Amino acid sequence: MNLIVKLGDSFGADKLIEIKSAHTVLNFGLNFVNAAAEILNRTAEAGLKVKVRTTADPIIDLNYAEELKVILPMFTLHDQLMRDLERIGVYGFTCTPYYLDNKPQFGEHYAWSESSAVIYINSVLGGRSNREGGIIDIACAITGKTPYHGLHLSENRKGQILFKILFNDWDTFDLTSIGLKIGEIAGNKIPVIEGLKNISTYNLKNLGSASASTGAVALIHVIGKTPEAKNIESAFQNDKPEEIIEIDKDSLKEVKEKYSTEWKNPPKNVSIGCPQLNEEEVITVLNKLDGKKILPNINFWICTNELTRDSIKKSKHFEILKKSGAKLTTLCPLLTPLPRPLMTNSAKTCFYSNASYRSLDTCIKVATEGKK
Ligand code: F3S
Repeated sequence: MNLIVKLGDSFGADKLIEIKSAHTVLNFGLNFVNAAAEILNRTAEAGLKVKVRTTADPIIDLNYAEELKVILPMFTLHDQLMRDLERIGVYGFTCTPYYLDNKPQFGEHYAWSESSAVIYINSVLGGRSNREGGIIDIACAITGKTPYHGLHLSENRKGQILFKILFNDWDTFDLTSIGLKIGEIAGNKIPVIEGLKNISTYNLKNLGSASASTGAVALIHVIGKTPEAKNIESAFQNDKPEEIIEIDKDSLKEVKEKYSTEWKNPPKNVSIGCPQLNEEEVITVLNKLDGKKILPNINFWICTNELTRDSIKKSKHFEILKKSGAKLTTLCPLLTPLPRPLMTNSAKTCFYSNASYRSLDTCIKVATEGKK
C-alpha cells in the first residue's frame, strides 16, 4: 500500500481507485529480475494474495526443452518465480490475457504492465490502465487498487496528434510499420488515426504494440474503431489536434529498414507472434504453411497462448502444423534469447533486439525455401 500511495503522490493523484484485474510482467526467470524476484519472494513468504484476477507475461516453454537446452541454464530464477507467483494467486501466462478470461471491460479500471496489452485494452476495449511497472503491478493486484491519475481520467484520454493514413491497400507489415512510425513521433502523446476504420482488432494489437515500443504510447484512438473515438470530435474531445501528420506508403520504407538488423547468414530461428497470436492469426499462418516444409536447420516458432495452442492441437489445422515442422509454442520470442540470426514479422521484437524485420510471407518463404 505504501508503494502505490508513494507512486500516486509522485503523479499528483488524490486517491486510489478499485481495479478489476491486473497483469504483471514479473514472470521471467532471467537474472535481470533479481531484485524484483526477491520482493516477490518476500511477498509470498508473508502469505499475501492477489485480490483481483491477475495474469502474467509468457514464460519459457519447457515442451521445447530439447530445442532450447543451450539457453535454459540462463533461467536461474524460473522455478522460484513460478512458485512465488502461484503462491500469491497469479495464473495464466501470456501477453494477450484478454484472449483468456482476463478481458477488460469498457470504462472499468485496471493495473496492467505489459505495454502491448495496456495499449490494447485502452484502444480496443475501452478499459482504462496506465503502463504500470513490474512489482507495482503486484502491489496493485494485492491491494486491488491503483492511483487515480493518467489514463484513468477522461480528460487525459483526449487525442493530441492526428495521423492521416493516405493509402488503403495496407497489410499487416505496413500496419506494424505505421505503428513504429507513430510511436516515434507521438512519444508520450495520444495519437489519433484516421483511415484505418476497417483494421481488425488483432492488427490493431500488432500496430499498438509497435507504437508502445518506439514511444511511451498507451492509448491510440482509431477513428471508427476505438470505443471513445466514434469520430474526430469525440477522439479530440471537441478540441483541435496539436499537429497533423500524413503517412503514405513510401514513408514506411525507411522505418522498415531502420528497425531491421541484416544478417549475412540465413536465420537459425524465425518467430511469428509478438504479441502472441490469437486463434485466427495462428490459422492464417498455418494456411500459408500448408503444403510447405520448414528447412531442417531452422526453428519456425508460432507463438500463442496455452488455450489457442490446445485448441489448434484438437483442430483440423494440426495436421498442417505437424507436416510443416513449425513449432506452436507459448514462449515469448523476445525474452527467450533464441540463437541468432533471428527473423520475425514482429515490429516489437525488432525494436528491442537484433532481429531481421520481414513480412509474414517473406518469413515463411525464407524458412521453407532458404535465403536468396
Ligand atoms: Fe508478448 Fe514477449 Fe512480445 S511478452 S508482446 S511476445 S515481447
